[in-house]
This record gives sequence, structure tokens and C-alpha cells, in this order.
Amino acid sequence: MRSDNILKIWLLGAISTALVAIGYLGKQKWTTVPQYGTAESVRNEIEEAFLESWRDYEDYAWGYDVYGPLSHSHRNMPRSGDPLGWITIDALDTMLLMFNKTTSNRAEFLKGILEIQVWTANELNYNIDAEVNIFETTIRMLGGLLSAYHYTKQLKIGNPEIYLNKSIDLCDRLAIAFKDRESGIPFSSVNLQTGEAIRNHVNEGASSTAEFTTLQLEFKYLSYLTGNATYWNLAENVYPALYDTNDLLSRYRGLAPIYTQPDSGLFHGQNIRFGSRGDSFYEYLLKQYLQSHEKIYYDLYRESMEGMKKYLIAKSIPSGFTYIGERPYGLQGALDPKMDHLVCFMGGLLGMGATEGLSIKKARKQSFWDSTREEDWKLAQELTHTCYQMYRQIPSGLSPEIVVFNDGITKIPPHAWSSPSGDFFVKPADKHNLQRPETVESIMFLYHLTKDEKYRQWGYEILSSFKEHTSVVTPDSRNVFVSLGDCISLPTHKRDNMESFWLAETLKYLYLLFEDDLDLTSIVFNTEAHPFPVFDLERLDEMHLKTNWSPSVVRL
Ligand SMILES: *[C@@H]1O[C@H](CO)[C@@H](O)[C@H](O)[C@H]1NC(C)=O
Ligand SMILES: *[C@@H]1O[C@H](CO)[C@@H](O)[C@H](O)[C@H]1NC(C)=O
Ligand SMILES: *[C@@H]1O[C@H](CO)[C@@H](O)[C@H](O)[C@H]1NC(C)=O
Repeated sequence: MRSDNILKIWLLGAISTALVAIGYLGKQKWTTVPQYGTAESVRNEIEEAFLESWRDYEDYAWGYDVYGPLSHSHRNMPRSGDPLGWITIDALDTMLLMFNKTTSNRAEFLKGILEIQVWTANELNYNIDAEVNIFETTIRMLGGLLSAYHYTKQLKIGNPEIYLNKSIDLCDRLAIAFKDRESGIPFSSVNLQTGEAIRNHVNEGASSTAEFTTLQLEFKYLSYLTGNATYWNLAENVYPALYDTNDLLSRYRGLAPIYTQPDSGLFHGQNIRFGSRGDSFYEYLLKQYLQSHEKIYYDLYRESMEGMKKYLIAKSIPSGFTYIGERPYGLQGALDPKMDHLVCFMGGLLGMGATEGLSIKKARKQSFWDSTREEDWKLAQELTHTCYQMYRQIPSGLSPEIVVFNDGITKIPPHAWSSPSGDFFVKPADKHNLQRPETVESIMFLYHLTKDEKYRQWGYEILSSFKEHTSVVTPDSRNVFVSLGDCISLPTHKRDNMESFWLAETLKYLYLLFEDDLDLTSIVFNTEAHPFPVFDLERLDEMHLKTNWSPSVVRL
């Protein structure tokens, strides 16, 4: 499949990329950053990167859930060996968006889209006798099927009903996990065939807080499409226990510990963070508001953001980079200056929360604008800049999984690598880069809210670093993209793995960064970057879909 022509285009692109030297950190260190040509030329580069990854996957692992591009090894996620669509369904809407925009690869995207459609109709069967994680299955597969339904319908490609029917079948299987759950909180996993709900095997059976609070956009959208309110109600039912039983607003200031006991609904442990297992709890509060415009979710989001500002925000030494730390021992415990790369979605979220998707200029003229939103907006820009520094200061130009900021108190971890400016450190165990999207996600949002070229420049630098330091030329002279075991030593240490969110999220957000007009008031992205349309409020009303719950302790 891979022709020499493509190689030439790739090389030409690389050579014509002009490099200019800029000063960094005064006169201490000089590095070069690539400059981009036009938005269209960058979109072409991103399409090429996507297609290089896709062609290789298609030839060596078609339909499989997990792929190692270096060895061509592949497998599926469920123990039974059946596929979930972990890569195919996750990547599909990126192809649809690229298909609609491309000037040179239309036929190839269409071919890929139709192949996935035929596979979905004929081979993808969720009657699987194996345990799957409800959260992962919802955000990747249910989310991917729903956005594929929306976009194939919009673009009139093939038969969109295939995706809608498949999402109903899948969600009905996931929904069983909520059945008989008195607390409203599901266990972590479910057997897709038997409907048996399965407790988390670790953490004393506690469910991750971010997992059962990150199903709502998908379940609600399916209710909106089918008129069946069951999905909506099940997803919403996790909140009363979370808010009331725990007194989340007063006692915890809207900041939820990362584990919850699914029987009592009580938090398990004290660990509060915006990284793994905490992150998308906050994300889906705002996004439910953006999806359905129900004020309660904005209010809950507001409470959490005020808690975050008070308890988790700090600035690094010496440059004063704003970061979000962790409270592993609860709100009264010390602030740990550790930040997962996962936290980097927060710049974009705060930006969307302040502006509701309008340009910052327009947002400031709305009646909703106030000093709190102005504060959120400032924080959005600062956090995005911090996350950019987590790429800029690393030798490969790619962020590690976790950094520890210099707060002047915490001892530098042993054998840690120090960033050139001294603002953060990287422990040996945290040097990997999983091709994650969160920073380019925030950069994409802030670009469209401001149209400030700086953000495109940052995104282009990150794209160029991915191209230079995560790609490998295989023996059959393909260029493939992989995750890294070490992004600090050069040459980087390559892992035999391509994450599905490289195709589903990272390349999609980069592509959307170089789109000219993107209306952020009409779409809402799920946490796996699958875009859903914002609900038509009249239709919502006609369907009687609405939130039937509010926290009993209201401090709002
Ligand atoms: C497809 O592209 C057209 C023209 O640029 C645009 O107006 C439309 O919104 C796009 N459709 C989707 C579903 O992205
Ligand atoms: C989707 O399901 C409906 C209702 O069961 C059925 O009538 C329709 O034929 C199905 N469509 C496809 C493409 O499978
Ligand atoms: C609505 O969805 C629930 C949950 O999967 C299902 O049990 C029920 O049969 C559905 N109702 C209709 C009318 O399809």
C-alpha cells in the first residue's frame, strides 16, 4: 500500500520545514523550533502521519484491539479473544473529519471508513463472554459509535444506522451493571454476555471516582437519539450518593477523592487529584452543562473549580509556572507538587467553562461574564503554558507521563532529571510518553477561543517532535508511530505499542487546531475526543429528558 511517492512527500515536507533559532531561558540554552507554512500544509502533514499509522495497522493487525508496530504483534482486549473495536471504532471519526476536509486523500479516507463500516456490521459482535471495564468501553467504543453515527449521517456516508444499532446493543449490555445497585454506583466491570457486574479486583473493590462519573455524555446522548430515558437516568443516578452521602460540597469543597465504595457510596481513602482516576469527574460536570445547558452542572463545576483554586493551585520556582498539585492525605494534608500529564486537559476545560465556546472577545461582552470567569480564563492560559513547558524543556520535545514541580520545599526525588529552568523534575519511573493528547487538546481549545497564532506554533512544535522522536522506519520501509519508554534520553527509547488515542485524540486535536473555523458552541467532545452535537433544547424538552436530581446540601 505504501508508495514511494508518499515517502517523497514526507521528505519534502521535512526538508522544507524552516528551522529558526530562538533564545530560550535568556542566554543559557539555544534550541531550534520548527516554523509552519500554512494551515493547509500542516493538515496535510497530520493526514500523512495518520495514514502512515493506519496503513500499517490495516496491513498487519486489521480489526485487533491492541497493536505493536515494531513486531506486528496484535491481540484483543477481552480474555475471550473477541475484538471490541478499540482501535477501529476509536479512529473512525478522525477519518470522517479528515475525509470532510482533505484536499488530497479523500478516496483513501473513504475506503477506510467504509471498511470499518462493513466490519462493524458483519464482524463486531458485543455478545462477548468476558469482563470489560465499563468506563473504557463507554468512552472509546460507545463514544466512537455515537459520533460515527452523527458524522456519517451528516456527511451521508453508507448506513449510519449500523452505528446507532450497535451502540444501543452495547449500552444495553453495559446498563446491566447498574441494575440492582442501590447506591446507584456501578462496579468497575461487566461481563458483556452474562451481564454479571464485577467489582474492581484491586483497591478493596472500590470503583475509581472518575470512571463512573465519565459515562454521562454518552448515555445521555443515546437517550436523546433513541428517546429511551433509561440510559440518562442510570448515568445521573451516580450523583446523589456521591454528593449527598459524602457531603461533597461542604466537607470536600467539591474535590472528590479518587476511589468510591460502590456499596455505601462513600469515598475510599483521601487522595484528591486532577490526574488519573480524578480527572474526568470534573471534565464531565462542565461538559454536561455544555451538552444540555442544565445549570446545575455548571454550578457543581463552579464549586469544584473554586475548591481547586483554594486547595490545589500553586506556582513553581523559579519561573512561577502555575500547576495543579495533589492532596494525597485529604484537604488538610500537604500539597504534593506532582502533576500527571493527564491534568493538562484543564487549560482547555477552564477556557471552555469561562467562554462557553464563544471567542474570548464575545464572551467578555455576555451578561454571564464576571471576575470569576476572568480568573478562570487567566488560569486556563497559565496552565496551558505550563503544559507547553513540559514539552519545550524536554530533550525530545515530548512530555513525560508525570512531573514533580519545584516548590522549594519538597526534596528533589533521587535520580530525578531536572528541567533546564529548574522548575520541574522527572523521576526515572515517569519518563515514558504514551502519545497522550491532553496538552494539544488544551492548545486547540485556546487557539479557537483566541485565534492567537502562538498556540498553533506550540502545536506545530509538538507535532514535529512526535514526527521526529516517536517514529520508526520498519524493515519494510514504513514509517510507524509508537509510544516511548523514555522521552528524555536521545535517541528516545521506542516501545512496541501504538495507543489507540494517538489516532482518536492526539492527531484529531492537532488537526482541529489547524482547522480555520470550528464552532465550539455546537459540539462537545467526550473524554476520548469523540465529538457529539450539543442538544437541541426544544427537542430535549419534548422528550422530557432532564436532570431530576440536585444535591440536598446546597451551598451554591
Ligand atoms: C464538512 O465540511 C464543510 C465545508 O467545510 C463544513 O461546512 C461542514 O460543517 C463539515 N461537516 C462536518 C460534519 O464536519
Ligand atoms: C437497526 O435496528 C432496527 C430496529 O431493530 C432495524 O429495523 C434496522 O433494520 C436496523 N438497521 C440496521 C442497519 O441494522
Ligand atoms: C430502554 O433501555 C433499557 C436499558 O437497556 C432497556 O432495558 C429497555 O428495554 C429499553 N426500553 C425500550 C422501550 O427500548
